[in-house]
Amino acid sequence: MKIQNYINGEWKEPSTGQFAPVINPATGETIAEVAMSGPNDIDEAVQAAKEAQKQWALVPAPKRAEILYKVGMLLKERKEQLARMLTMEMGKVIEEARGEVQEGIDMAFYMAGEGRRLFGDTTPSELKDKFAMSVRVPVGVVGIITPWNFPIAIATWKSFPAIVAGNAVVWKPAPETPIMAQELARIFEEAGLPPGVFHVVHGDGPTVGNALVEHPDVKVISFTGSNEVGRMIAEKCGRLLKKVSLEMGGKNAVIVMDDADLTLAVDGIIWSAFGTSGQRCTACSRVIVHERVKQELERRLLEAVKTLKIGNGLDETVKVGPVIHEEALQKIDRYVRIGVEEGAKLLVGGYILREGDYARGFYYAPTIFTDVTPNMRIAREEIFGPVVSIISVRSLDEAIAVNNSVDYGLSSAIFTRDVNNVFRAMRDLDTGIVYVNAGTTGAEIHLPFGGTKGTGNGHRDSGVAALDVFTEWRSIYVDFSGKLQRAQIDTDD
Ligand code: UN1
Repeated sequence: MKIQNYINGEWKEPSTGQFAPVINPATGETIAEVAMSGPNDIDEAVQAAKEAQKQWALVPAPKRAEILYKVGMLLKERKEQLARMLTMEMGKVIEEARGEVQEGIDMAFYMAGEGRRLFGDTTPSELKDKFAMSVRVPVGVVGIITPWNFPIAIATWKSFPAIVAGNAVVWKPAPETPIMAQELARIFEEAGLPPGVFHVVHGDGPTVGNALVEHPDVKVISFTGSNEVGRMIAEKCGRLLKKVSLEMGGKNAVIVMDDADLTLAVDGIIWSAFGTSGQRCTACSRVIVHERVKQELERRLLEAVKTLKIGNGLDETVKVGPVIHEEALQKIDRYVRIGVEEGAKLLVGGYILREGDYARGFYYAPTIFTDVTPNMRIAREEIFGPVVSIISVRSLDEAIAVNNSVDYGLSSAIFTRDVNNVFRAMRDLDTGIVYVNAGTTGAEIHLPFGGTKGTGNGHRDSGVAALDVFTEWRSIYVDFSGKLQRAQIDTDD
């Protein structure tokens, strides 16, 4: 299968004529080829998007929303089929792939509802016979750049609000996961989205991503990916005075207090640390545990890790799938070596699986370090793999300080039965998402998604907050007095 670009409602060969293999990380097999486009393809898509957007913005928002309802229905009908394709191209286990498609369905219905809201404000004028209101207006052409770890969900978080708000979208998906992009484009087409409102241009970041970021007719960039790339994009957008929304990962912690339900805490940690093989922005990569329960927690975590079946995610009994590619395996393994050199104690895992069925895929053993100190690199840097570090503390204050000491601020969690601890954590944990008695993953689409510090730049995906990225505010004053009324001056006659 050759995956082409989707430009102006047509499947098109990239102008470069080049393609790259798409590899199933569970088996190492090539399952498709993806277009590796050039700047010309971006330009063609943006020009078409610019034209189409003018008409699209004139379609009443509830009508635009009806197309999203259809998109939601089609995603729902094809949930199983899409989930299987997702597992094959990205590697996450089938149950999680279904969950990811569900996240797209949820977003479709939620944003379709926004088509009948898109609220602005009406507010009294300071003058007689004058009306004041604000309305959301689309920004025009929106550029979307997404990662491979949530190949369909993140695309829906960005494209659905953009489209319902009356923008046109040019999307550059990660080259590792183009199949989901192709499926989403097909679904948009079947749902009746006019040609030109949604485009997919495949390729790499330095060529295609960069062309999208620098294109003068692209007014907003919404990016999810690494902090390093996000900073580069922000610098470019800064020079061009372009709005940019960034979501750049985390170093998320689960705090376990001495009064916690340890069975629940273990379930939450295992799920958040090793789900999606640790390749979530929200993955738990630190456990900050009260010293009084450290030993017992470690014992139970070890027991739980041993029950995890690792393998091809299409097997329903498998709990941990592969990581995305060899390069990721090497990066994870490098961090594990760093942890050992830094003096952390390896409790379990810490190696690449190369034997038997694992030989051709990219599998890393679920790994737990203990006796980690907050200043070690493994406790500060995003590893993006199945590696978690246990740090012991003596109080809630210390736990919160350790949680907040990293450069990221996406998600955090606390396990405790003490309501005072809960409310202090809710107030003092410096992250965009806080969980109480649940792990660090599992954000729902109707609340804002994003974080503080190195995680973002103040914008949010998801929820009504997503509309702020894809709309401008227009404030409108209507004077029906029939005379000149000067604001702030003619106020008291
Ligand atoms: C991501 O890893 O970038 O909360 C998204 C979660 C998922 C989304 C993760 N609903 O883990």
